[in-house]
Amino acid sequence: MLLWDETLFNNGEVLEFDHLPEYFAHRESQMQALRFSLKPALRGMRPVNCLVKGPPGTGKTTAVMKVFNEMKEYTDSVVLVKVNCQMESTRFAVVSRIYEQLTSIAPPSSGISFRRLFEKVVKFLIDSNKTLVVALDDINYLFPEGHADEVMYSLLRAHEQYPGAKISVIAIISDVGIPYSFDPRVGSVFLPEEVAFPRYEIGEIADIIANRVKHAFFKDVVSDEALDKVVTYVDRTGDLRIGIDLLKRSALNAERRASRTVSVEDVDKAYEASRLLHLCRNIRSLSDNEKTLLGLIAKDSSLQAGELYKSFHDITGLGYTRFYEMIEKMHVSRLIDADFSGKGMRGRTRYVAPAYDSNDILKCLE
Ligand SMILES: Nc1ncnc2c1ncn2[C@@H]1O[C@H](COP(=O)(O)OP(=O)(O)OP(=O)(O)O)[C@@H](O)[C@H]1O
Ligand SMILES: [Mg+2]
Repeated sequence: MLLWDETLFNNGEVLEFDHLPEYFAHRESQMQALRFSLKPALRGMRPVNCLVKGPPGTGKTTAVMKVFNEMKEYTDSVVLVKVNCQMESTRFAVVSRIYEQLTSIAPPSSGISFRRLFEKVVKFLIDSNKTLVVALDDINYLFPEGHADEVMYSLLRAHEQYPGAKISVIAIISDVGIPYSFDPRVGSVFLPEEVAFPRYEIGEIADIIANRVKHAFFKDVVSDEALDKVVTYVDRTGDLRIGIDLLKRSALNAERRASRTVSVEDVDKAYEASRLLHLCRNIRSLSDNEKTLLGLIAKDSSLQAGELYKSFHDITGLGYTRFYEMIEKMHVSRLIDADFSGKGMRGRTRYVAPAYDSNDILKCLE
């Protein structure tokens, strides 16, 4: 073991998930699109709404936060609030978060209706002549329970009820292949500028990872071979978060065996844990009933669809239509394989199997 003050990390903080990187390359056009959409706010106009979309770990949240920070430097007439929809998953929770950031006062946790609280937010904006931009981060978590439309609708139609209110929305969708859509009533007021975050190319991944290594570790700690290995692993899913987590875990592995360099084996060993990040995040976005169903599938992958439905129904009391919808959704998001060879006839799904190692799924469900 290395001594307490001996470490491979020069600045390990840059490997934390909430670290906003100084070096943020390969996203210039997306940053420009975001800046351009927000710019009208500087002239007292309502900013253009945005729909930011792309697979996990492609820099969406980071890009929005960086543009927010730039704008905060420049003006205080625009209030920029990011809401994490995985945590704040109802319109009341979302507006509480906004209220808190606007006023620096925690909202009353009970005894106040959504309407009253929202009114306070809007009144604050109008009285102080400020424009509000809300980034609804990972709004995909709000779709399964149907909260996305409600939240969007309240924010985007506020000016109809409260003339003078200027609110715009940046909806950030972490695209894991699950289809989603807004209600037409939302669509007609949202009319967003779409900003796409495609998966990074392997060369871009290599560049970003190499730069992070340079900041995080002392010189020559990570060999070229180990670095290549990290890049290869990241390229499997394109999720940079896995790469950053891998760097941290591999270096901790190296430290554990008192080595001053990170080896390919350290990376391989770390990948065992890092690779599950992706899967676990995907699973966390499921509803409780969907998790129950996935758990059943993972526990016994040889179950016939009919038997599976029966077990599911016994636990949840839900009917076949809901069951079938859930199977379809998890198939689309590539959590399970299902045979739909019944040619579109419902009820003919013959087999359902986990698309990942069952133990991995069960680990994430814990
Ligand atoms: N172009 C880049 N340059 C440097 N670091 C990056 C870049 N893109 C992403 N990252 C890093 O990768 C990690 C994931 O990025 P981020 O959280 O912005 O992804 P995301 O698209 O919001 O993912 P998700 O859809 O899962 O929420 C962060 O730690 C971020 O610092
Ligand atoms: Mg994000």
